[in-house]
Amino acid sequence: MSFQAPKGVSEYVPPRSALFEQALNAFAQSARRACYAPVETAVFEDTSLFVRGVGESSDVVRKEMYSFESRGGDKITLRPEFTAGVLRAVLQYNLHKGALPVKVFTSGPAFRYERPQAGRYRQFYQFDAEAIGTEDPLVDAETIAVAYDAYRSLRLERFTLLLNTLGDGNCRPVYRAALQDFLRKLDLDADTRARIEINPLRVLDDKRPEVRAQTAAAPYIVDYLCEGCKAHHDTVRELLTSLGIPFQDAPRLVRGLDYYMRTTYEFDHALLGAQSGIGGGGRYDGLSEDIGGPSLPGIGFAVGLDRIVLAIESERGATAKETAGCQVFGVPLGDGTQADVLSLITKLRRAGVRADMAFGSRGLKGAMKAADRSGARYAVLIGAAEKNAGTVRIKDLKDADQQDVPATAAADWLLSKLGETQ
Ligand code: HAM
Repeated sequence: MSFQAPKGVSEYVPPRSALFEQALNAFAQSARRACYAPVETAVFEDTSLFVRGVGESSDVVRKEMYSFESRGGDKITLRPEFTAGVLRAVLQYNLHKGALPVKVFTSGPAFRYERPQAGRYRQFYQFDAEAIGTEDPLVDAETIAVAYDAYRSLRLERFTLLLNTLGDGNCRPVYRAALQDFLRKLDLDADTRARIEINPLRVLDDKRPEVRAQTAAAPYIVDYLCEGCKAHHDTVRELLTSLGIPFQDAPRLVRGLDYYMRTTYEFDHALLGAQSGIGGGGRYDGLSEDIGGPSLPGIGFAVGLDRIVLAIESERGATAKETAGCQVFGVPLGDGTQADVLSLITKLRRAGVRADMAFGSRGLKGAMKAADRSGARYAVLIGAAEKNAGTVRIKDLKDADQQDVPATAAADWLLSKLGETQ
């Protein structure tokens, strides 16, 4: 019996892994352009960090965490998300005592014990960006712009930005009580009734038509905002408009994690079916205190890289062709030529060219097939005749031209040709 990856683990192998890399790079570049700095943080943390940070009423903490006791008896959880761990690291390394906001990004696997289906995995990949240490609504708009620009640079179009606010410690309790009053009068199942007491806002998020119909007239937070939250929300909306970033007001949008307040948002993709959320984020001004830190506001977002790969595939029909293929492929013909080919290929690589060569003793036919498969524009052949003459044969695999070039000039010749065709 051969092994398979555990159920629900998302993995990438060539050629599809190239799309994953593209997606990750698009977000990393967008964040870097906005002067976010990279961080790498723990993949597992003390369980209580997530219980206190992500929140006891969230599904993530109640049902989805991969928690275990380590050999030493510590209670450990594989990160179900990045925000709590990134903020923990910012506090631990005292970054918040330097210039604010602290702007950082990271990426990697996250773990949630969910029911696997298309676009929903137990090990999945997030890109995450956080701006910590300011309440300024400008930074809310900035995080949204960083995500939006990354989606656009991947040429994604069929997505919508949904925007909401959840109020703050002043206005949310008043709203929560009003919502609970409303919901308690409805005819709902036992589970949902229990939820009204724990996390009533989540009931608004229920997708079942019979629940939807009953909550159609539910009060919305926008009508309960205190002055500060209203001004903040209005500013974020104006800023997005001035940046030309289209959004939809989504008064029912409730995020799945407990730490949010004020601005919340999600990016939804039209072609992904049930798992359409390709990213989401918001403000977490109380999180630092919840995990034992000083008062330190923050905002950020995370995107699901797996779903972005699916979105690229569904929009562009993009497949293997999009791999960053080779540009030059070396073909040694006969003994004693391998080292010459490897030298030339290495020289090209050092000059930034993607170059590969045929390994093992393949015949000309097999090696040329490998050259074609590699996607290279040029094949470089060295046989006994070329070696003796001090030349290499360069074949243009696109228009089948070929010519002999002095071995010492071959790398420069290829570099200038590749420069022309870019
Ligand atoms: P989240 O909405 O739970 O937010 O996750 C962000 C994104 O991760 C989702 O929009 C989705 O694309 C992806 N995702 C979540 N669960 C899965 C899964 N089981 N399989 C595949 N993809 C998934 C957060 O995690 C927050 N930490 C975002 C944030 C950062 N808020 C502030 N800063």
